[in-house]
Amino acid sequence: MAKLQTRYVCQACGKALARPMGRCPACGGWDTMVEEVVEAAPPAGGKSTRRGLSGRSAPRRLAEIEGDVEARLPLPIGEFARVLGGGVVPGSIVLVGGDPGIGKSTLMLQVAIEMARDIRVLYVSGEESERQIKMRAMRLLRPPEGQPLSLPDDLLLVTETNLGEIMQHIRDTAPALVVIDSIQTVYLPELESSAGSISQVRESASRLRELAKSSGIAVFVIGHVTKEGIIAGPRVLEHIVDTVLYLEGDAFQAFRLLRSVKNRFGATAEVGVFEMQERGMAEVLNPSEAFLAERLVNTPGSAIAVTMEGTRPLLVEVQGLTSPSSLNNPRRTPNGVDINRLLLITAVLTRRLGARLAEQDVFVNVVGGLHIAEPAADLAVAAAVASSLRDRAVRADCVLIGEVGLSGELRSVGQVNARLREAAKLGFRAAVVPRRLRQGEPWQPGIEVLEARSLTEALDLALVKA
Ligand code: TYD
Ligand code: MG
Repeated sequence: MAKLQTRYVCQACGKALARPMGRCPACGGWDTMVEEVVEAAPPAGGKSTRRGLSGRSAPRRLAEIEGDVEARLPLPIGEFARVLGGGVVPGSIVLVGGDPGIGKSTLMLQVAIEMARDIRVLYVSGEESERQIKMRAMRLLRPPEGQPLSLPDDLLLVTETNLGEIMQHIRDTAPALVVIDSIQTVYLPELESSAGSISQVRESASRLRELAKSSGIAVFVIGHVTKEGIIAGPRVLEHIVDTVLYLEGDAFQAFRLLRSVKNRFGATAEVGVFEMQERGMAEVLNPSEAFLAERLVNTPGSAIAVTMEGTRPLLVEVQGLTSPSSLNNPRRTPNGVDINRLLLITAVLTRRLGARLAEQDVFVNVVGGLHIAEPAADLAVAAAVASSLRDRAVRADCVLIGEVGLSGELRSVGQVNARLREAAKLGFRAAVVPRRLRQGEPWQPGIEVLEARSLTEALDLALVKA
């Protein structure tokens, strides 16, 4: 294998240097130099041989290539399988990222345990001792009263951080699935930088990918998202791996969302919903119901949005609270929606609807720790705020769908019928949606559809009369 060397590349202009510099000498950008590992002497003929699939390449006819349908290893945790697009693809490498403490190790140990009932799984930890992992496994496996404990047949555990040793363990034990917990603890001794540095993280992941592709072993790699070091975190790995999953959630809330942001073998933006419990992560099979469980109906400041998370519609409660402010710049505090979305919505409420928000602090909260990125939730956010300000509740049996535009118009969003179907399924009787400009497929039956052209009209329909 060629010798490796470290270089520093400007992320803005691509200039490469041997030493790090605070300012790029080529484009003048500050703090743009990022450490990178390359082979010191690329083989003649260019870099095409760098870390590709093993062996020599040769073009073949499509019909000669085996693999009609990908065979997948069954993954018995449905919410996880849904995010992957089915079972685990052999030879694939999957990154599972998330904040420290969010539940990555717990979830992956559950996956390892369940899959080890059929195939051999090797769980490599650089974070915990084998004993600690065993104790966690026992906690996850604790059987219901009176039932026998059922340990998985073929789960192997090892604590190791040297990637050379890890590769050797993989060759020796020949598992079908490997879990690396975490990529930040793994290091290659031949690189000078320390474990967790960008070059170590990137190079280790590349080696693991090479191994996965050449052996057909599926590899799951856990990566911490670090506040200061997005650079050495999962972001730098996104282009190396086949699939990127993020585990998200509010550390103070039980719900966890597993979201695919990249998937070579399935749809992206798909989500699985879990709840962190005493015995690990439990699948939430009806998330909309769970998110609405604690809702107080007929209380001002609460509205129901329907967001699409991948192909799945989710009903969530958006809460708004306005309260007289003593500040020159009253607070705008969103939790679960983008601050810029909230600023836009409060500006529209103020300028287009004459809402007196200038002397009010405004708080918005999405219940359940969910983060809604979709503008389709704008109407629910606006209604929650307006409802609190006017002290009038939103109709309890009504969901709100639509994007709010700068002129106060209600703008159409995608997949309205899928959203309506989910709302109807949960017993909602009405939905306020943007007025349709073109005739499309008929509205979903079983729910009264109230079309509104503007935010004003929508609020008239949604807020109960005083
Ligand atoms: P962990 O999986 O260690 O997080 P990560 O690997 O992402 O850093 O999860 C840590 C938290 O989960 C910890 O605060 C304890 C909690 N937990 C439970 O609530 N129930 C359980 O069954 C387990 C194993 C952990
Ligand atoms: Mg962990």
